[in-house]
Amino acid sequence: MYKILLRQDLVPGIHLFKVAAPEVARKARAGQFVVIKIDEKGERIPLTLAGWDEKEGSVTIVFMEVGTTTRRLALLKAGDSIANFVGPLGMPSEVEKFGTIVCVAGGFAVAPIVPIARSLKGVGNKIISILGARSKDLLFWEDELRGVSDQLIVTTDDGSYARKGLVTEPLKELLEGDEKIDRVVAIGPSIMMKFSALTTAPFGVKTIVSLNPIMVDGTGMCGCCRVSVADETRFACVDGPEFDGHQVDWDSLFTRQRSYLEEEKRSLEQWQCQCGQHS
Ligand SMILES: Cc1cc2nc3c(=O)[nH]c(=O)nc-3n(C[C@H](O)[C@H](O)[C@H](O)COP(=O)(O)OP(=O)(O)OC[C@H]3O[C@@H](n4cnc5c(N)ncnc54)[C@H](O)[C@@H]3O)c2cc1C
Ligand code: FES
Repeated sequence: MYKILLRQDLVPGIHLFKVAAPEVARKARAGQFVVIKIDEKGERIPLTLAGWDEKEGSVTIVFMEVGTTTRRLALLKAGDSIANFVGPLGMPSEVEKFGTIVCVAGGFAVAPIVPIARSLKGVGNKIISILGARSKDLLFWEDELRGVSDQLIVTTDDGSYARKGLVTEPLKELLEGDEKIDRVVAIGPSIMMKFSALTTAPFGVKTIVSLNPIMVDGTGMCGCCRVSVADETRFACVDGPEFDGHQVDWDSLFTRQRSYLEEEKRSLEQWQCQCGQHS
């Protein structure tokens, strides 16, 4: 069992857990993820590492409530335990000196992008970060991202805080500007990653995205997480989750992500009925 050492409610529907998992913490690298199962009967879900502390033996995850498992997870408190916490899984982010890197984070993805930006800055890259959220009340970890960036631009879709608009607008301006941009790392909802890749394509700037297809085992055995990249089938759990965004077949990813919408809806309704929860 993996004990929750700390719980923080970051914004409505998005929570942080610090979990005692010394073996995961010892091997963790930026860009990797864990697969967790709340209890023996629970569903396995992947969550990206938002931080780790080898000395303390802890790993930090940040998750958004979207369906049955993430809502059940949100009911746990510090002191409770999670049955399975497997990782670190997936290929770590490529960390080399590239030059100037724009890190684009949409929504809860600010949490996984902070360790990536920190690692990239640690080897001498200049980091310009763009953090976007739908509105001010969904923004978190602005200071954490600022702390690992040379420059930070914040956007909200509704203009309730900082610059109004989508993350792709300042991204395009940076690409059009005087400074040479050597690489872009964009993490967030699939649609945001697709449009970030479409924005950078005409400029020929390599754009790394972190794909989030449905995963089951997370170790390359079930084939559930297959994605098409450069016309080849790749398994996001072992070949990724990071890929070149210009080579991803986004439409097939969107279709596969929606494969179980009916079952997911039924599962949530059943669970809400059983435990008297109503959305
Ligand atoms: C590598 C990777 C890293 C991720 N990191 C994070 C993270 O750090 N924080 C976070 O909030 N979310 C993360 N996700 C997404 C998270 O796994 C899903 O939100 C979660 O599985 C939803 O489960 P549910 O039962 O609450 O919702 P459901 O109602 O079951 O599903 C809601 C939607 O989530 C997706 N989903 C469902 N089951 C899975 C599954 N087993 N694997 C992947 N996606 C699924 C589907 O697109 C689905 O339509 C990550 C996904 C991947 C693949
Ligand atoms: S999740 Fe099973 S092969 Fe990737």
